Amino acid sequence: AGFEAAQGGGAVAAAPAQKPRQPLTVLYASESGNAEALALRSKKIAQKHGLDARIVDFADADFDLLKKAKNILVYAATWGEGDPPSRAVDFYNALMSDEAPRIDGVRFAVLALGDSAYVEFCATGRLIDERLAALGGVRAFDRIDLDLDYAKQAAEWTEKALGELAPADAGNATVVHVDFKSPLLAEDDDEPRYTVESPLTGEITALVDLNGTGSSRETWHVEIAADAPGFSYLPGDAIGVVPENDPQLALEVAEAVGLGADGEVVKKLRERYDVTTLSRPLIEAFSKLTQRTDAAKLLEPEAFAAFAADRQLVDLFETYSEKLTPEQLFSLLRPLPGRLYSVASSPKAHPGEAHLLVGAVRWASHGRERRGVCSTYFADRRRTGDEVRVYVKPNRHFRIPEDGNRPIIMIGAGTGVAPYRGFIEERAELEHKGKSWLFFGERNFTNDFLYQLEWQEHLASETLSRIDVAFSRDQPEKIYVQHRLWDRREELLDWIADGAHLYVCGDEKGMARDVDDTLARILAETARGDDEVGRAKLKELAKAGRYQRDVY
Ligand code: 2AM
Repeated sequence: AGFEAAQGGGAVAAAPAQKPRQPLTVLYASESGNAEALALRSKKIAQKHGLDARIVDFADADFDLLKKAKNILVYAATWGEGDPPSRAVDFYNALMSDEAPRIDGVRFAVLALGDSAYVEFCATGRLIDERLAALGGVRAFDRIDLDLDYAKQAAEWTEKALGELAPADAGNATVVHVDFKSPLLAEDDDEPRYTVESPLTGEITALVDLNGTGSSRETWHVEIAADAPGFSYLPGDAIGVVPENDPQLALEVAEAVGLGADGEVVKKLRERYDVTTLSRPLIEAFSKLTQRTDAAKLLEPEAFAAFAADRQLVDLFETYSEKLTPEQLFSLLRPLPGRLYSVASSPKAHPGEAHLLVGAVRWASHGRERRGVCSTYFADRRRTGDEVRVYVKPNRHFRIPEDGNRPIIMIGAGTGVAPYRGFIEERAELEHKGKSWLFFGERNFTNDFLYQLEWQEHLASETLSRIDVAFSRDQPEKIYVQHRLWDRREELLDWIADGAHLYVCGDEKGMARDVDDTLARILAETARGDDEVGRAKLKELAKAGRYQRDVY
């Protein structure tokens, strides 16, 4: 085997005779796709360093892969309260178990992604890093733990880590080999043009509260004209929104540190910084900076839990009322993160537009009204005709079946119904003939039946075959989507036997976990009630891409 010849379209330098490249195994554990995107992107960088990278999802990894690996690069995201991403759980547990093989002498490096708003920041990556060392691996480059604004540091770290993993004599290889057969590379070349760092400015063309006036809910349907070459999405993807903070809150944060009169500071707080999240790293930096030992005491787990629960940055600043300079203040804050919403439209049905479904988040605690940053940005601070900054966050793991004849079963509660509007519109545009079944849950029929008229039209045109609804508060006892699934279990099993794809979208703790349990129980029915078998069947469906979840 020589070199891959240059083929149509690819620019490949002619290569002088060269040693075969060293193999590199790039493993990723990803939930929302950030770790996955980094892993895919690392392939080219690895080539530059003389390494031949094979990119593997934790979901597809096994001990055999580990035993054969010579060099390992890991991108691992932490999900929720310190958990591994759901698709990664099995291999993660195997790796942590006594069964895991030794990897003596294998060189590795780990990049951890997380959100410092959570206490167990980057726990998954940290534990993988420790485990690989305990199994005899040699840490070739120190782990890095990155927050939501990871992009630049991740790119730098990857270059350096690959430099360390690469064979010494190939250090400065200038020849780039391109494996044209790799589907991963195609993904890699397909990088989104607009990102949180450089979003597209679109215009809000519709902004409507879908709930009835008497509702306990406030759910906004937002239409955004985002008509630019390079802004493209598929149903199942998420749209990122770069919001602005509540001006009143920005002012209060500035006032709490004695900078309320500085208009520049207030503006920056409003536009660029996360002024709500109260994280451990922030309290640590704040107590060091101000030498407040009483604030440092908040870092003890119990004290932290008691103080931080339902408090925000402004409460910390008000409690300790320390004066800060603008530089000190900004050094404590992280950039304002974008917010992701599952797209609610098909671009084929609405060319040049993206639609979102945004639930307004409002609560009160410790004598203060609180508001979700991005949801109330839409609800309170934007109107039709205003601009909004957006980008696309692809989600390859939430897609309608390529085969248009496959049945689909869509399960969602609240704003979790959003992607199914896009799915159904897309299937209509593509003239897919497969049956479709929607399970929708909300509080009250009268006020909260999101997109009711559209579902009825889709039923009439037979784009939607069936709908079952669960209105939890229309009767004394709670009725949830999983109860409806259980009621309809026989037909569900028929649909699954016919090759149906299952989708779940919505709140993880509030709904998706219970739905998951119910689906496992339903699948257990075919195995005479053996729960373990039901679980295994659900896993099989997930492996085959027939059970896809978009949960938050
Ligand atoms: P509730 O608010 O009456 O408890 C959207 O939020 C819908 O999901 C609401 O009807 C809500 O009901 C319901 N929901 C809450 N917890 C749930 C759970 N564990 N499983 C399924 N649905 C749930």
